[in-house]
Amino acid sequence: MPGPKLNVIVTRRLPGAVENRLKELFSVELNRTDTPFSREQLTEAMARADILVPTLNDTIDASLLSQAGPNLRLIANYGSGFDHIDVQTARQRGILVSNTPGVLTDDTADMTMTLILTVMRRFKEGANLMQSGDWQGWSPSALLGARVGGKRLGILGMGRIGGAVARRAHSFGMQIHYHNRKRIHVDTETSLDATYWESLDQMLARVDVLSINCPHTPSTFHLLNARRLRLMKPTAFVVNTSRGEVIDENAFTRMLRAGKLAGAGLDVFEKGHEINPRLRGLDNVMLLPHMGSATQEGRLEMGEKVIINIKTFADGHRPPDQIVPSML
Ligand code: DGY
Repeated sequence: MPGPKLNVIVTRRLPGAVENRLKELFSVELNRTDTPFSREQLTEAMARADILVPTLNDTIDASLLSQAGPNLRLIANYGSGFDHIDVQTARQRGILVSNTPGVLTDDTADMTMTLILTVMRRFKEGANLMQSGDWQGWSPSALLGARVGGKRLGILGMGRIGGAVARRAHSFGMQIHYHNRKRIHVDTETSLDATYWESLDQMLARVDVLSINCPHTPSTFHLLNARRLRLMKPTAFVVNTSRGEVIDENAFTRMLRAGKLAGAGLDVFEKGHEINPRLRGLDNVMLLPHMGSATQEGRLEMGEKVIINIKTFADGHRPPDQIVPSML
């Protein structure tokens, strides 16, 4: 166990209150410029730190972990998703990894509903028309979208966020369908009037909107490949607020451009912020810059979770949000 004043290195700027509390408790190196660390900077930080606080911008793979210093004992990720960290290798090297689950569920689910409503009701086109100054007043036939109530929503991944999306969508009158590794409790299914699909392919062919809420793992990489996307109705919409890697972005873009899908709402992209340029400029595609958890409250709560994980570890206990192998 390292000494009492642990050396904590934080790779991005965090909310002020979180940084101040970290400074009170530990010997902290903060990232004043908020520029993401280069691989060299990350290697160097991992060589010196007792505890590293990375974000999803930092790819911590086996090669980087092999260069970690002997003091690095905890990677306390600021964020819920951990597909950027090789947790298995970290574990083999005796380095614990924790994340911040739960506190961004509602914010992400709210944004998912916003994207569903925006793309189905064509609100982006309406907003663009207003911005352009070309609106000529109300018209009985202009900008007609699809009614949300009564439509079939397919949820891919019925974990915390998928469940929160289901509750919201149910109250909007949507019919809930889902595909998940495990069927959810029968009482929850009944309360949502939800239909479980063991076969993703069969669900895809029947839904009007697909919401992607599963994590990115080796088994979900390109789960929505060209073949599966082709199973969907040409009138169907896709909303992704999880991880871009779950969709084959090139195949998806081609289908959207060819009118083989009705539209999309995307908060995440396959190659981080390097978005396929052909996704831009489509009226029926709403793109957001990974804003799922972007509320002041959510980002503070994520910071509090990071602090609790570090503090608990420093006190000699297992961090409450340690990522355990059964989650991988
Ligand atoms: C996470 O925490 O993994 C989210 O994607 C950030 O919004």
